[in-house]
Amino acid sequence: MAVDSPLAPAPVERPPFRPGLEGVPATQSAICDIDGLKGLLTYRGYTVDDLVAQSSFLETAYLLIWGELPTAAQLKEFEHEVQMHRRVSFRIRDMMKSFPSQGHPMDALQASAASLGLFYSRRALDNPEYIVSAVVRLLAKIPTMVAAFQLIRKGQDPIQPRDDLPYAANFLYMLTEREPDPLAARIFDACLILHAEHSLNASTFSARVTASTLTDPYAVVASAVGTLAGPLHGGANEDVLTMLEEIGSEDRVEAWLERAIAEKQKIMGFGHREYKVKDPRAVILQKLAEQLFDQFGHDPLYDLARKLEAVAAERLGPKGIYPNVDFYSGLVYRKLGIPEDLFTPIFAIARTAGWLAHWKEQLGANRIYRPSQIYTGAAGRDWMPLQAR
Ligand code: SDX
Repeated sequence: MAVDSPLAPAPVERPPFRPGLEGVPATQSAICDIDGLKGLLTYRGYTVDDLVAQSSFLETAYLLIWGELPTAAQLKEFEHEVQMHRRVSFRIRDMMKSFPSQGHPMDALQASAASLGLFYSRRALDNPEYIVSAVVRLLAKIPTMVAAFQLIRKGQDPIQPRDDLPYAANFLYMLTEREPDPLAARIFDACLILHAEHSLNASTFSARVTASTLTDPYAVVASAVGTLAGPLHGGANEDVLTMLEEIGSEDRVEAWLERAIAEKQKIMGFGHREYKVKDPRAVILQKLAEQLFDQFGHDPLYDLARKLEAVAAERLGPKGIYPNVDFYSGLVYRKLGIPEDLFTPIFAIARTAGWLAHWKEQLGANRIYRPSQIYTGAAGRDWMPLQAR
């Protein structure tokens, strides 16, 4: 149809281009709310402070995915179902044994999450039982696969999950082959709650875009894992410790920060698109870190981190740049004896709950994501034969 035809649709008024879609609503969602000026974060209307104090990760996952807190019977059944599906096929373990041991655990996780689609390929998105089984399998098997790769890359066989241990304690057990201290397990569970959901962050957006094509949930989670891995997103938690180790001592903080600012280097674990104050999760993670230090001994990197936070508040605070969720989480994981390159896979274990909540919400009112673009390339070029170029 010619553009000037009287039957042609009227030209669409285009909104202005916003790099990174800053401030552009890309969905409606009832899952999570952020007040970035007050530093408030709620899941389904409950503050994260209350959830960390009262709930468990699996209960919070249930809340996120199904919208309401479970009854005691619903929670018991959900925990039991997840526990029953923790094991992964020997074929997946064998596949992971062929991964290079020096490969990053996030790449191993992305590949193994995607491989679940090979085993549970029946796609029945309009069947509530299929939705429940996919939710349970992903929440159950992602931690097992993270722990399995950790042992495999050390040349050991993965160990089986322990049915008598709750979710967080079982993960730490599979990782270390030792039953964790109860306080360590409780604090790790709280970390999972804090990382479970955060509205339309990059990996969740990725999950929703993938979900909108009506592909399987394993592909949804695998695409989100790939997005989370980058250093501007979940990968920053690993880089924070590298940065603190590079600074080395408290007396070098000021000079290091001045140089970093002068070189326009991003300070890892600082800044957030939504928060203009300290991320409320960083406030809680800092307290959790202190509890761990009280119980298991101090970490001098914590003093360095606090000094960096104080100096950065003077230099970057006026621009609204404060610690985000990734700044103190690494210090907690380090005290728990977790290797640095597992920090982001642990973020993924927790965020699987949020991704699944968004997958389910997307299916409830789906329309495929297909934004427009502003073309800036060449036009009307004459073809140039190969010999003439
Ligand atoms: C997560 O979105 C989520 O919810 C994510 C997350 C979740 O739970 O899902 O919260 C998890 O991804 C936390 C963020 C982890 N990333 C980092 O810690 C990496 C360092 N931070 C930044 O790169 C940055 O702050 C982002 C990526 C977090 C946000 O990027 P924006 O909103 O696109 O901001 P920007 O890069 O355009 O920066 C705006 C200004 C710039 O200054 P000007 O050029 O305007 O003068 O703020 C400055 C930036 O230089 N700035 C920083 C900074 N972050 C922003 N300057 C120094 N250090 C920083 N960290």
